[in-house]
Amino acid sequence: MKIASVDFVGGFTKLSQMPADRFPEAAFIGRSNVGKSSLINRLLQRKNLARTSGTPGKTQQINFFLVNGRFYVVDLPGFGYAKVSKTQRAKWQKTIGHYLTERETLKVVFQLVDARHKPTALDEEVMILLKESPAEHVVVLTKSDKLSGNERQKAITRVHKTMAPLGLERPVLLTSAEDGRGRPELIDWLSLYI
Ligand code: GTP
Ligand code: MG
Repeated sequence: MKIASVDFVGGFTKLSQMPADRFPEAAFIGRSNVGKSSLINRLLQRKNLARTSGTPGKTQQINFFLVNGRFYVVDLPGFGYAKVSKTQRAKWQKTIGHYLTERETLKVVFQLVDARHKPTALDEEVMILLKESPAEHVVVLTKSDKLSGNERQKAITRVHKTMAPLGLERPVLLTSAEDGRGRPELIDWLSLYI
């Protein structure tokens, strides 16, 4: 797939505000700082399209990018950031829960998990939540450039082991926004569902 054009369409906090043009969507979800915005930039070959930051909680809105005038890539706000208030957390859960389960044009959710760590309790909650979503679900390990070859293999096995008791069998991809590893596979899964 050639990325011919990318247009930022807007950042939204409510389902009712989101584009109603019915283009298919691919969403990126994961805890704060896992590398969602960085991976979107790598995927779309744009340096600073989705704003990245060393400070967790950078992406606060649901950001829509129209790609090739044909489909949306959606950057979701991160979760699990310790400094966020309980009220804010509840609001996040409500909005994202709605989005994941009720957005009809949502075709695939890429769930990002840090390749260096075991999926957290919150990662598992998202996995469970995604069982209720009609969208396809692909797990994407991030920051794999920080691991050795052996550790990379272990990271994949670890995610499969987390999912098995939840009754989940999902593809697991190994990526790095830093060196571009896994981008072709990401494009393949995207093309399959979009
Ligand atoms: P929120 O918007 O806060 O939810 O964060 P995010 O998930 O969008 O993370 P973001 O892309 O802003 O990246 C967070 C930090 O991780 C930044 O300092 C990035 O430079 C770094 N980072 C992201 N991807 C990679 C990667 O593949 N490898 C390495 N080494 N660092 C990465
Ligand atoms: Mg972000």
